[in-house]
Amino acid sequence: MAAARGQFSSRFGFIMAAAGSAVGLGNVWGFPTNTAENGGGAFVLLYFVLAFVLAYPALMAELVIGRHTRSNMVGALSEIAGSNRARTVGKFTGLYAVLIASLILSFYSIVAGWMIAHLAEPVATALGCDGAARWLVESSASRSLFFTLLFALATIWVISRGVEKGIEKWSSRLMPSLLLLLGALIVYVLLQDGAADGLALYLNPDFSQITNPTIMVEAMGQAFFSLSLGVGTMLIYGSYISKQENLPQLGAIVTVVDTGIAFMAGLLIIPAMFVAQNNGVEIFSNGDLVAGPGLIFQTLPALFDTMGGTGQFIGFAFFALMTIAALTSSISMLEVPVAYTVENHNQPRPKAAWLIGGAIFAISTLIVLGGDAAFGFVVDLTTKYSQPLLGIVLCLFAGWVMHRNKVLEEIKQGMEQAEQTLFWKIWPGYVRYVCPLLIAVTFINSLRA
Ligand code: TRP
Repeated sequence: MAAARGQFSSRFGFIMAAAGSAVGLGNVWGFPTNTAENGGGAFVLLYFVLAFVLAYPALMAELVIGRHTRSNMVGALSEIAGSNRARTVGKFTGLYAVLIASLILSFYSIVAGWMIAHLAEPVATALGCDGAARWLVESSASRSLFFTLLFALATIWVISRGVEKGIEKWSSRLMPSLLLLLGALIVYVLLQDGAADGLALYLNPDFSQITNPTIMVEAMGQAFFSLSLGVGTMLIYGSYISKQENLPQLGAIVTVVDTGIAFMAGLLIIPAMFVAQNNGVEIFSNGDLVAGPGLIFQTLPALFDTMGGTGQFIGFAFFALMTIAALTSSISMLEVPVAYTVENHNQPRPKAAWLIGGAIFAISTLIVLGGDAAFGFVVDLTTKYSQPLLGIVLCLFAGWVMHRNKVLEEIKQGMEQAEQTLFWKIWPGYVRYVCPLLIAVTFINSLRA
């Protein structure tokens, strides 16, 4: 007999876990970077709109399918399929999603490893280990591999402990710490000279940019990545929610927390760049604001350096924030292949976690050795090509394959008045037509961009 399935013990536990999955490097790094690259406030606005009109309905598709089937994506899609053909499509889509979730984790752990290295740097400096401090902040294969391994071990350990003792317990501890750190850093940075210029850029939308198709594509990609959609992460977390909970409400809370924290991260990073400029750090390269790795690993550390002893402390807090954000996300990625292996191949959870985690670390190693080309290839394959397509299939399954009565029945558990709500008037048609079409149009645009 299969072991009993895990379940989140409380509403708070689920919200921390799902928001922990959603809030990650995508929020604290990706979102501010994308904003800096794509016209400031206009991107922020578009992102919020897309998060609610596109990502939230897709998130609901995953939560409904997950809780209804109480299964991982492979089992779930095959189970709701009515015909043999749909069952085959469901099974292969599920397997592909398991693969993509694993590949996302393989590059995500490398980036998370860099965060831990930067976290250790002020400690090494304080201890007077200058050589070590330099190794920690200069890119090298040895540094990447060492810290990727460390991060992978932490991720595997949490997942090997299961839903309640691993995912829920650690998300519930780490997410509040993240909020505290973020709040404190924002207050500190906004009090520095120069911060106001950053705020102005961040909050003033340049409306002429809103119809720019590249920005639209970037904003959708950001929303999908940020809400961890397409690969069955939210589906598996949804499968651990109690039948007493109100799903549309939980999904809305997670979306609000995710976009709220992205917004806060922007309040931290964009003003910080202008404080850096005020302190003599170069923040433009070829006329554009620096973005990407240069922003996180050079501009911001250069800013911390101009702040003396306090700067060391601020730098430590900043990279602690990044590491926490990354860990609560990486566990949700590893849960996807692990839950599949536990449920469909009857393996004990710790064994599945260590074996799959080890295999993913092996892929990370190949990416580190393969350099930028390998890294870019995996990022594009997973986030640019696979996530939107998988998102479309999930919406189609929730909208067309799963019987409408079953969908309603599922939502009514925990929300008796479901039929009379605005949600039920809009969402079913929405996941059927609007979501798949909108995602498809944006996806096609992204291929041309
Ligand atoms: N949403 C996380 C972030 O913003 C990353 C993440 C976790 C993710 N699980 C995922 C991305 C599944 C894509 C798919 O950093």
